[in-house]
Amino acid sequence: MGEERGHFSSRLGFILAASGSAVGLGNIWRFPYITAENGGGIFVLIYIVFVATVGLSVMLVELTIGRHAESNPVGALRKVAPGALSSLGYLFVFTGIAILSYYGVVAGWTVGYLVKSVFGELDADSFGGFIQNPTLQISYLAFFILITTGVVYFGVKEGIEKMSTILMPILLLLLIALIARGLFLPTAAEGLKFYLVPDFDKVSVKTFLYAVGQAFFSLSLGMGAMITYGSYIEKKENLLTCASSVVFFDTLVAFLAGLLIFPVVGGVIEKGGPTLVFVTLIKIFHDMPGGQIIAIVFFLLLAIAALTSTVSLHEVATAYLVDERKLNRHIAVWLVGGITLLLGIPSALSLGAVKWLSGLLGKGFLGIMDFVFGNIALTFGAMMLCIIAAYKWRLKNAVKEIEIGFPNFGKYKNIWGFFVSYISPLAIALMLIYVLITGEGLG
Ligand code: PHE
Repeated sequence: MGEERGHFSSRLGFILAASGSAVGLGNIWRFPYITAENGGGIFVLIYIVFVATVGLSVMLVELTIGRHAESNPVGALRKVAPGALSSLGYLFVFTGIAILSYYGVVAGWTVGYLVKSVFGELDADSFGGFIQNPTLQISYLAFFILITTGVVYFGVKEGIEKMSTILMPILLLLLIALIARGLFLPTAAEGLKFYLVPDFDKVSVKTFLYAVGQAFFSLSLGMGAMITYGSYIEKKENLLTCASSVVFFDTLVAFLAGLLIFPVVGGVIEKGGPTLVFVTLIKIFHDMPGGQIIAIVFFLLLAIAALTSTVSLHEVATAYLVDERKLNRHIAVWLVGGITLLLGIPSALSLGAVKWLSGLLGKGFLGIMDFVFGNIALTFGAMMLCIIAAYKWRLKNAVKEIEIGFPNFGKYKNIWGFFVSYISPLAIALMLIYVLITGEGLG
């Protein structure tokens, strides 16, 4: 299959596409409100330390497995972990579809709000009515899945890479322009203080829990997206540079998103929650001179970030159907799109449109999907990948793969090995046990 699978055309192409996967609603929508709910600056500090250590080590594991196998997660795990462990690949493919199904709902909101802001209909009080409207929810979901499928249809180089090369620089520019505006608001100082000055009294087990869940989600780890993207990296590339660039860029954008949102909303936003950007922020935009333009730019930014992530979720299942089931790519993409849309409908209807879906287990259908797939499955997946790399495939084989494009990896090999063999799986296992015992949501 090697020839037909396609490759990213350059290291930059990979970095933009993989950063596109990582940078998403997780950075701009979820990171600020999780930070707000978990004590501000102290959460940011713990998050950054976690990402730079455990996050980076798992990123390198995924890229290495992917490039070695040159295959989707199912084929890749069969190669590095033959036997029972390889069935993890199927969990990954399903997790991708599952996350895409509810992520697409929220991504649809960004388009809905973009449309609203273009027509000057932004109104903080309309959020409830919007998410409870079944027709709107399903239409925007379908629209977003359609666009995603359209990009994936064109393949790795012509679809995913080309889109990311155009959209990622735009995303960064929009973000910086918005930050520049926000910093001049009277609320800026108070917001920055909450965001940047750690308050050590606010640390609890929960702070760590949320940092772990947020890190894997934000870095697109634990479900094979990076295995899949890694499989399109050329052998001559330096995987450590690839991994650290993506981790750096993703964390930078999350940090910048905070730098945008906290100065705008000021200090007291602990109760922001998932509606932080759709309600709290809208209220402020509404009252601001030039607020309409700012809102348009902001929701455009969110929609772009979401799209470069949804294509990576979609690509995991598509690559599986193409590599393993020998399906024509053009058929595979529509199949994945269709299944995802069907699975997404209950999530789209669980925000008030259908009562029992909305109240399911106290979290609602979308909330349950996010907890099971966006948190637990990713965390479990990341742990299993470390275990597989260290104890089944063996680190010396992983190191050999990395050294093909980076002969000097030797210097870093021991520290990386230490994280992959002990620190990362143990830290993750402790978190999972805590969650299973207390039943607390990860993020
Ligand atoms: N990393 C993406 C975000 O932050 C979400 C995602 C998770 C994408 C897992 C792919 C795989 O929005």
